[in-house]
Amino acid sequence: MVQRQLPNPAELLELMKFKKPELNGRKRRLDGALTIDDLRTIAKRRTPKAAFDYTDGAAEGELSLRRARQAFQDVEFHPGILKPAPDVDTAVDILGGPSELPFGIAPTGFTRLMQTEGEVAGAGAAAAAGIPFTLSTLGTTSIEGVKAANPHGRNWFQLYVMRDREISYELARRAAAAGFDTLQFTVDTPVAGARLRDKRNGFSIPPQLTLGTIVNAIPRPWWWYDFLTTPKLEFASLSSTGGTVGELLDAAMDPTISYDDLAVIRDIWPGKIVIKGVQNVEDSVRLRDAGVDGIVLSNHGGRQLDRAPIPFHLLPDVRAAVGDDFTVMIDTGIMNGADIVAAVALGADFTLIGRAYLYGLMAGGRQGVDRTIAILRSEIERTMRLLGVASLAELEPGHVTQLTRLVPVARAASDVTIR
Ligand SMILES: Cc1cc2nc3c(=O)[nH]c(=O)nc-3n(C[C@H](O)[C@H](O)[C@H](O)COP(=O)(O)O)c2cc1C
Repeated sequence: MVQRQLPNPAELLELMKFKKPELNGRKRRLDGALTIDDLRTIAKRRTPKAAFDYTDGAAEGELSLRRARQAFQDVEFHPGILKPAPDVDTAVDILGGPSELPFGIAPTGFTRLMQTEGEVAGAGAAAAAGIPFTLSTLGTTSIEGVKAANPHGRNWFQLYVMRDREISYELARRAAAAGFDTLQFTVDTPVAGARLRDKRNGFSIPPQLTLGTIVNAIPRPWWWYDFLTTPKLEFASLSSTGGTVGELLDAAMDPTISYDDLAVIRDIWPGKIVIKGVQNVEDSVRLRDAGVDGIVLSNHGGRQLDRAPIPFHLLPDVRAAVGDDFTVMIDTGIMNGADIVAAVALGADFTLIGRAYLYGLMAGGRQGVDRTIAILRSEIERTMRLLGVASLAELEPGHVTQLTRLVPVARAASDVTIR
């Protein structure tokens, strides 16, 4: 028999703890986002389809991106037990300077199209968090504008070597003069990848107003208000005539870039040089031997060659081949701080986030990017504590197993030689 009694009002009152409602809509929205996927959901609701798809989408069947994300999910962690880590230290030294967290913001073009605050929000959030920010050659805020948003922190510049070499060299000189300390030379774009969503959406820069765009804008008035009441969207460092994104990229990129360009850039750029878009072991070793300061294993977030190698799968072989002293960074597919921890455990010195940053930006401008960084930070710290490590240096390959889903049929990916 269950014993019953009259409810005690005092007990009931104790249970009733109503939170003060958050009146700031942006803050309420962002506080409710617990993962990068949550930020993506908000971003999708608030951003016109063409701009969202430009960011979210990848090339062809989008297999590279899906596989890269899957590879991070297919991680098994091996925690050590009874190893107290009451405080965890997430700071690293990277390319001759500090970063409070083992990730930085990747270069992205057209950023103000996603949300009008664009690179200023990214650079400001990076400054507040003590992590590096990378400005793209196709950025929509000037080199000097980014420097003003992140005056004391680390700014990196991403270079596309264009058909007209002098334009690229001049940009590099300007970035160096503004105190940017690292140059990322992107090498995975001999031509633009086929971004089919953009084609289907008739996406162009600047956006064209068609009947479809107008209908799509109705539930997203704030994006349009921002777009129409802030300075015109254009490449801040490049002059361009407009056109589809593919046409713009094709005009900007040069299929003839080679190792010779590397030598010229070395002469122009006084700081660190990193090659972004490396996709096999042989190139990693060759670049180390050519004297660059580091590489980014990346397939451009799946936006170039579809079905490209998964950077996270290449990582252990690349680290083994180049040795411990060469800087290896990685991007493509990072959606969770645990992905970053796994990458560091398998030998990455640093990681870059592209879409994770842009989802935050589209979800809530500067505060949205702050939220992205806060989510990733808490995921990194929690994963480290649960693994029983107090610093990133304690992470080792033994903490991670990459579960097999995609394996080459006949030979290991590392045996493939590109001639
Ligand atoms: C919308 C968008 C624009 C990008 N623009 C550039 C660019 O201008 N230059 C470049 O080197 N990489 C560019 N990237 C690639 C990123 O730097 C990075 O390699 C990629 O986003 C990493 O994958 P993730 O988005 O899964 O994090 C872009 C990526 C996105 C999503």
